[in-house]
Order: sequence, then structure tokens, then C-alpha cells
Amino acid sequence: MHSVTPSMGLFEPVDLSSLPDEQTALSIEGLNLHYGKTQALFDINMRIPKGQVTAFIGPSGCGKSTLLSCINRMNDLVEGCHVDGKIMLHGQNIYDPKVDVASLRRRVGMVFQRPNPFPKSIYENVVYGLRLQGISERRILDDAVESALRAAALWDEVKDRLHENAFGLSGGQQQRLVIARAIAIEPEILLLDEPTSALDPISTLTIEELINDLKAKYTVIIVTHNMQQAARVSDQTAFIYMGELVEYSSTNDIFTTPREKRTEDYITGRYG
Ligand SMILES: Nc1ncnc2c1ncn2[C@@H]1O[C@H](COP(=O)(O)OP(=O)(O)O)[C@@H](O)[C@H]1O
Ligand SMILES: [Mg+2]
Repeated sequence: MHSVTPSMGLFEPVDLSSLPDEQTALSIEGLNLHYGKTQALFDINMRIPKGQVTAFIGPSGCGKSTLLSCINRMNDLVEGCHVDGKIMLHGQNIYDPKVDVASLRRRVGMVFQRPNPFPKSIYENVVYGLRLQGISERRILDDAVESALRAAALWDEVKDRLHENAFGLSGGQQQRLVIARAIAIEPEILLLDEPTSALDPISTLTIEELINDLKAKYTVIIVTHNMQQAARVSDQTAFIYMGELVEYSSTNDIFTTPREKRTEDYITGRYG
């Protein structure tokens, strides 16, 4: 298990059922989601701790990506998608009609399964969000590029080719570039949807090490169907099955002493 930075004021295992507000990055309350007439999430309730890594695991099609994308309202873009319930961030329900979705997405960044750099230079990919915010001062952008690429463990590999096209990078480098692009705008929460599933084992290891470093600054939520990965990178794990949150506790407990038979069946490979 990973140790927790003492400055975060969190000591493992945290009690996820009564996590105090100041240690909570976000709180999901009574969340139900329908795609048209089909219900995909059923009464999800969970508090996600700040400055830690939380993994969502479960078989394909169980609702992991759906739940993750609720957190920055990506499913607003899906026609027929309907969400009930709340996701509280700093005392505000992000589904409140008053919430500005663009500013929510600045606070909650997302990285997808397949690296999706823009057809631009490495440099322009990293500063993309800053330019959208109207920042154009060269020195500020240069500093942001260096610090985001360093944080994404990519700086040393690309510092001499910042103005080359991002498509010239390997898949693993592209995924770190996309993470750099997400963190350049300094979000509070980083959502990663199976970020290594398209990568080779070496790149996967690099990203996993990076995730462990990122939690010093960000709250990280990662979807993975790779249980070894969840065990390696996360502090707590949520097992989701058929749209329900079956079990949520410290990663150590989930993998060593699951309370629910369905969790045990899944982690021992009985279905998958
Ligand atoms: N855009 C969509 N429109 C309709 N149904 C969807 C959409 N996205 C996902 N679903 C359905 O919701 C369920 C959960 O999918 P998903 O969240 O992608 O699962 P996972 O990420 O665990 O594989 C599946 O039954 C899937 O078919
Ligand atoms: Mg998915």
C-alpha cells in the first residue's frame, strides 16, 4: 500500500463512510443515471477522499466510465442521458443548473483510454487550455509547459522537440502528453478512464508511477479493468457491478478481505 502524504492530514485507512468534509474531494449522493429508458447507474453514494487515488473496477459494461464521466458532466453531451441525484463539489451540486460546465471542467480534468493529442505541436497541446483562458504571455506559457511536462514525467524526453507535432510521439508519450495537457490548467481532480489499456507494459509502468506522484497535488480517480493495476496504484477501490456500487473500501481490504460475495467472485476471476 502507498503511504499517504502526512500534510494531507489523512491516515490510512480512512473511514469512507464518515469522511469529514475537509478531507472530501467530492461526494456522490443518490446518483441514478438513465440512457433513454435503460438505467445504467443505481443509487450510487460515495465520498472520494482528497489527495488520494481512487480506483473504479468491475467488468466491462458495468458503468465505470458512465460514473466517471458524471464527475465532469461529460455525459451532458450524450443524447437521452438523464441524471438524478447530486455530486457535491465544495458544497455545490455540479448538476445544479446554475453551474458553469466549462469552469467545472477546468476543475475536473479527464483523460481517456486512447491518447488523443491534438494535431498540433507538443508545446501547443500543453498550453491549449491556457490559451482558451486567454493567456498568451510567452513566459507564462513556457513555464507552464515545462512544469506540466515535468509533472507528467515527459519533459526530459521532449524538451528538445517541443515544436514538433505531437503525433510523432509514441503511444505512451502521447498519453503522458495528454495528462500534461490536463494538468497544465491545474485542475483539482483528474479523471483517468483506463489510461493504460492501449499501452505497452513499459509505458504502463511509467504512467502508474506518474499516478502515484500526481496524488501529492491532485485527487485522482482511475477506471481500470486491470485488478493488478488497481492494487498497485490506488488507495481505495470501488467495485461496480451492473450499475451498482457493490463495495467501496481501502484497496487492501477489497483485495484481501472483501465483504461481499460478488466482490470476491470478481477479484478471484470468477467472472470478468
Ligand atoms: N452513450 C451511451 N448511450 C447509451 N448507452 C450507453 C452509452 N454509454 C454507455 N452505455 C451503456 O451503459 C452501460 C455502462 O457502460 P459503461 O459506463 O461504458 O461501462 P464500463 O465503462 O464499465 O465498461 C452499458 O450497458 C453501456 O452499453
Ligand atoms: Mg469504460
